[in-house]
Amino acid sequence: MTEVIRSAAALREKVTTWKRSGMLVGVVPTMGALHDGHLSLARAARGQSDRVIVTIFVNPMQFNNPEDLKKYPRDEARDLALLKADGVDVLFAPGPEEVYPRGFASTVSVTGVSAPMEGAFRPGHFDGVATVVTKLFGMTQAGRAFFGEKDWQQLQVVRRLVTDLNIPIRVIGCPTIREEDGLAMSSRNVRLTEQERSVAPALHRAMQAAAEAIRAGAPVAAALAEARDAVLRAGFAEIEYLDFRDAETLEPLDRPGPPARLLAAAMLGAVRLIDNIAV
Ligand code: PAF
Repeated sequence: MTEVIRSAAALREKVTTWKRSGMLVGVVPTMGALHDGHLSLARAARGQSDRVIVTIFVNPMQFNNPEDLKKYPRDEARDLALLKADGVDVLFAPGPEEVYPRGFASTVSVTGVSAPMEGAFRPGHFDGVATVVTKLFGMTQAGRAFFGEKDWQQLQVVRRLVTDLNIPIRVIGCPTIREEDGLAMSSRNVRLTEQERSVAPALHRAMQAAAEAIRAGAPVAAALAEARDAVLRAGFAEIEYLDFRDAETLEPLDRPGPPARLLAAAMLGAVRLIDNIAV
């Protein structure tokens, strides 16, 4: 039975009771439109905590584009059915006035890791993410938080803020879940037309080819240029970035060495897809 809670006060009461009996609480923050990627996080949470909270809040503060916010898919009834089937204890689905009440005036801002890539192309996005995640950690009082590696930069931003602000929560990154053809699962994928959906896996394919080339000793710049060409040839409209970076600091790398990632964001029609893989 999944209980739906909408107020922070009611959630606190529930979590306090759990914690009094020594239970470890896990949280999976989401914006809904759940897919197998989210459910894999809920399952990881179930395996590593006594009680699981999934949060659904389409956070206006992290959308730099009002059209994107308006079009963001929402279907709470379907999401709830999926969470019930997965044995999630609580769906915390606050309204905007619960998260940002009148007079709200604080922002959590992480510098450094949040600056390039998503930070450069979506100004203000990570302030919105960092602020809401900090609030969700405070409201849920969870001991463990589960995030997908699909949003690799977001994961680094959350790790940074948890360390910097001494938030007593362990952040656990979980592997990206992909469709059979390699496309990373994302709530935005439902907005792809049939034709775009058939083109979409080209991004992951090109990144894999670049990763293999770099591992085999090809110059990084040449491998990235070839991947960018392949993505555009496949039918993507624009590449915002396709970069080779240090996995933790997200500093650009011009040769392999420390643990590294390829990260990309590209427009396919009106849909913005992101992906990343380890090298
Ligand atoms: O990854 C997401 O869905 C969102 O950025 C998050 C972490 C739930 C914050 O709104």
